Amino acid sequence: KQLGVGRATGKIILMGEHSVVYGEPAIAFPFQKTAVTATITPAEQLSLACSYYTGALAQAPQTLKSIQEVIAQTLFVLKQEHATFSIQIDSTIPAERGMGSSAAVAAAIVRGLFDYFDTPLSHTELLDLVATAEKIAHGNPSGIDAAATSGNSPLFFIKGQSIEAFEMKLENAYLIVADTGMKGQTREAVGDVAQLYKQDPKVADSIAHLGLLSRKAKVAILENCVKELGKLMNAAQLELATLTVSNERLDQLIQVANDQQALGAKLTGGGRGGCLIALTDQLETADKIATALEEAGAVATWIQSLEEND
Ligand code: MEV
Repeated sequence: KQLGVGRATGKIILMGEHSVVYGEPAIAFPFQKTAVTATITPAEQLSLACSYYTGALAQAPQTLKSIQEVIAQTLFVLKQEHATFSIQIDSTIPAERGMGSSAAVAAAIVRGLFDYFDTPLSHTELLDLVATAEKIAHGNPSGIDAAATSGNSPLFFIKGQSIEAFEMKLENAYLIVADTGMKGQTREAVGDVAQLYKQDPKVADSIAHLGLLSRKAKVAILENCVKELGKLMNAAQLELATLTVSNERLDQLIQVANDQQALGAKLTGGGRGGCLIALTDQLETADKIATALEEAGAVATWIQSLEEND
């Protein structure tokens, strides 16, 4: 075949980041406003072209190790270890901002390679292959990023147990997503929470509470209670701060959103930078919140209606 193409989207975790690593449920959805495409074409050597690096895959810098690994694993599964080709990665998902960029890139590559070698790919096989890359990028991934970036509906996700697609059709609900402009530190944050978990018994309570908040958020969504969902988001942010995964920049921008009458606001993803989300039931307020966040230094904002599911 002369061409293989694979695509995946960004993702937003609405509720349950970090606690999801400990088996608590989380709610996430594919964020269609950002996406990544991997394009595979024949070449004489195995090569990569992305915004960080263009050249032979074998000489790629350490930061691209997870990409090297997912390609190697996928070629092993496809029994194509000696094939040569070029992979081009084009992405609008900001990297290291809690939007699942690393999982999405891996998912796009796996899909692209299976397409290039004309082989059907099951969803389980895809998630397993993405997990190999995520283990390198994040240390101890729950799998939520892989599931949300490669899926097409909101998920109620429990690690290793169930990935339940559900309908998120909230009327008059707008989520403002804002990029702090700071790189998030998922690996460090996940590692530090694990340390805290061992040292401080109260951490287990916070994690259990975050799980409860995710369950309540699912009910609020199904019952179309936007204000309740906002309160649950605020409660989750307090717990995430207790887990030390928020930071000054996130706290400051969350305050800006709250000052503009957001119904709720919290970090999303790994934290310690990356993105935050804020909720409102009015489009006009959503615009105001987005503008205020940008004025306060957010480098990009998106407004997502939670009615459309896209
Ligand atoms: C990262 O997007 C979400 C975390 O919960 C880590 C994970 O679940 O793998 C922080």
